[in-house]
Amino acid sequence: MRDWYLDRMTNTLITGANKGLGYETARRLIALGHTVYLGARDPERGQAAAERLGARFVQLDVTNDASVAAVAALLGEQPGGLDVLINNAGIAGTIGDPRAATAADVRAVYETNVFGIVRVTQAMLPLLERSQNPVIVNVASGLGSFGVVLDPNRMESRVPALAYCSSKSAVTMLTVQYAKGLPGMRINVVDPGYTATDLNHHSGPQTVEQGTDAIVRLATIGKDGPSGTFQDAAGTVPW
Ligand SMILES: NC(=O)c1ccc[n+]([C@@H]2O[C@H](COP(=O)([O-])OP(=O)(O)OC[C@H]3O[C@@H](n4cnc5c(N)ncnc54)[C@H](OP(=O)(O)O)[C@@H]3O)[C@@H](O)[C@H]2O)c1
Repeated sequence: MRDWYLDRMTNTLITGANKGLGYETARRLIALGHTVYLGARDPERGQAAAERLGARFVQLDVTNDASVAAVAALLGEQPGGLDVLINNAGIAGTIGDPRAATAADVRAVYETNVFGIVRVTQAMLPLLERSQNPVIVNVASGLGSFGVVLDPNRMESRVPALAYCSSKSAVTMLTVQYAKGLPGMRINVVDPGYTATDLNHHSGPQTVEQGTDAIVRLATIGKDGPSGTFQDAAGTVPW
């Protein structure tokens, strides 16, 4: 039985939140009253980012079992546990001619973008199951949408990125499977849109504020919110 005041607080963990979209998501959710655990693999950059925002730093490398288990143990000791998990950490991998993509290249991208989400989600589920309103947001990409990538009118149809695109497609199906298997939670997947961050050498036209609109919207849904959906700032994204 939790104390009533703990049920009025929202504890949120964001992976890869020392910069880019994860950092902006942390900033916005703190402004909305969330207690944010800012996950970062680098302690110095993570601690500095958390101090700037008023977040709580947790050292979290999504590719490392021990690191993820340590964060789950730490959060398990906090009053209020965990309500919202945002699986944001991601890497781009090599872009270009698919003939150059080796199994090792693809595995490295999947280790972060796909297995990282499974590793973190599985470790955090026992905590989320104790929340009054458990929510998971997975950050995929329009580059993982078959509908978007096969639409010649979309710029995503002209981006050759075998490892990254296929990893983000896996994230959408992971989301569907988690949502179907865990009907007591709201679990959705997001396309932030092409946003200026280090991931793309700041080539994206959107600001990080625009890029986090869908993440923040789905991180703040109530018990009556959707689950198993793929959304961007404008609404539904085709699978
Ligand atoms: N920017 C876009 O246009 C765009 C579009 C669609 C989807 N996305 C997705 O949005 C998410 C955030 O990307 P971003 O654009 O904000 O890129 P970013 O600025 O490069 O940030 C990526 C974050 O992920 C972290 N990270 C990478 N590997 C990690 C690991 N093994 N463990 C923990 N953290 C790790 C990075 O940490 P370090 O600083 O230590 O490297 C960094 O904090 C990604 O999933 C990306 O695929 C981005």
